[in-house]
Amino acid sequence: MQPTLHIIGTGPGDPELLTIKAMNVLGRCQAVVAPKGSLDGHSTALAIISQIVPVGGKEVYELFFPMKKITAGQEPCAEVREAWIDAAKKILALLDEGKDVAFPTLGDPAIYSTGYYLYETLLGLRPEVKVLFYSGISAMSSCSAETAIPICLGNEMLAVIPATFSDERIRRTLQDFDTIVLMKVHRVLERILILLKEADLLEKAVFIERAGMEGERIIRDLSELPENPHYFSTMIIRRNGQGIFC
Ligand SMILES: C[S@@+](CC[C@H](N)C(=O)[O-])C[C@H]1O[C@@H](n2cnc3c(N)ncnc32)[C@H](O)[C@@H]1O
Repeated sequence: MQPTLHIIGTGPGDPELLTIKAMNVLGRCQAVVAPKGSLDGHSTALAIISQIVPVGGKEVYELFFPMKKITAGQEPCAEVREAWIDAAKKILALLDEGKDVAFPTLGDPAIYSTGYYLYETLLGLRPEVKVLFYSGISAMSSCSAETAIPICLGNEMLAVIPATFSDERIRRTLQDFDTIVLMKVHRVLERILILLKEADLLEKAVFIERAGMEGERIIRDLSELPENPHYFSTMIIRRNGQGIFC
């Protein structure tokens, strides 16, 4: 069997939200390459999986992936590109040693994840490389479950965007969609509050920090938002939300 890279969604943080499939595949991999967002920090994805799958007997590498703005279809900055290439080379070396490699990534790999950039970089270096993806429970699904707020119903339209987009794009999205999920809100809350007020949507928004994890906070009255929220923070805005659905 050709050694394979398995790109695995870990779910949003609660280790019980790792899928059985993910657990089984992780158990079979001889090596784990896990992303971390700061040079001296640790990988959150690795911390999540290691609560369920023992990694002691595996080769484990935590590699730094700088958290920089990336525009789809455009080359990233040199620092980011280098990190992708370094990770891809490390993975190729492990595959060449005959090892199956797991790359755990937060939530679902299909949503704002490093997984697909890594995939593209690997294909660029070696087109015949074998890569498989495993979906995970996304942060927005977990935020929905924890708040009992649906993401979309009936004829509603959904937009999922980072809160770091320009004011203009956020304004348009707030106007055009029924449910708006704002990811990465932690550093831009003040600006988002202004835009929500402008769109008269302050009362239709819910803030969720660390959904399903220790220290979870759900804030429905946005005048009570924390000053320094955790990176694991998301907002759900439901334009038609009424009563229990908002
Ligand atoms: C780089 S994105 C990764 C998204 C992930 N791939 C997914 O499927 O949800 C990181 C953002 O996901 C959201 N997030 C991740 N885990 C979360 C959690 N436990 N609670 C609330 N938001 C979370 C936050 O908005 C955070 O800034």
